[in-house]
Amino acid sequence: LPLEQARFLLSAHTLAQLPPAGVPEIAFAGRSNVGKSSLINRLLGRKGLVQASSRPGKTRCLNFFALADSAYFVDLPGYGYAQVSLAERRHWGEVVAAYVEKRSTLVAVVVICDLRHELKRHDFELVAWLRHIGRPYIVVYTKADKLGRSQQERHAAILDAGLNIGREERILFSAQTGQGRDALLAQVQARLAA
Ligand code: GTP
Ligand code: MG
Repeated sequence: LPLEQARFLLSAHTLAQLPPAGVPEIAFAGRSNVGKSSLINRLLGRKGLVQASSRPGKTRCLNFFALADSAYFVDLPGYGYAQVSLAERRHWGEVVAAYVEKRSTLVAVVVICDLRHELKRHDFELVAWLRHIGRPYIVVYTKADKLGRSQQERHAAILDAGLNIGREERILFSAQTGQGRDALLAQVQARLAA
């Protein structure tokens, strides 16, 4: 993957604004403020390419990043952020759901959860829905640096049980330390090549 050649392509607020379906795409989804944008930056090895923020609800549209002519990474807006107006939340749901369900070139959704926190209804619903529509997904538990190693495994086991997945089906990640980056890149690459 030409990670070093990643560049911002466009922001889509509507389906009409999506780039033409061409190269395979990986989308990144998760609760607001979980660390989606930071994770993409760490994957790409580019600190400021994707705008991250301690203020939840930073990413409001589908942001496309092009890795030369090989792939797109798509930063999705976070779900479950109450401060966003009701109309905007409904709009988010419609546009993102239609994108995830219909996009022919979307090869996998990276589902990002906070390793420290309990799963919320939206997390369960997202994974259940991806299974239902048959869209491949990769589960990542991020902000692992906030816990010690033994705590990490203990928390991860609880989340595994909640999502009904095995420990080999998820990746512990940290945008801060780079933990899990190689494992996630390998899975992303496998999906893109499939
Ligand atoms: P929205 O776009 O608002 O949905 O947020 P997001 O999911 O893109 O989160 P973002 O990457 O903007 O990160 C939110 C906050 O969490 C920022 O203050 C980040 O610095 C912090 N953060 C993200 N990932 C990690 C991580 O792995 N470790 C630590 N310690 N902090 C992180
Ligand atoms: Mg973001």
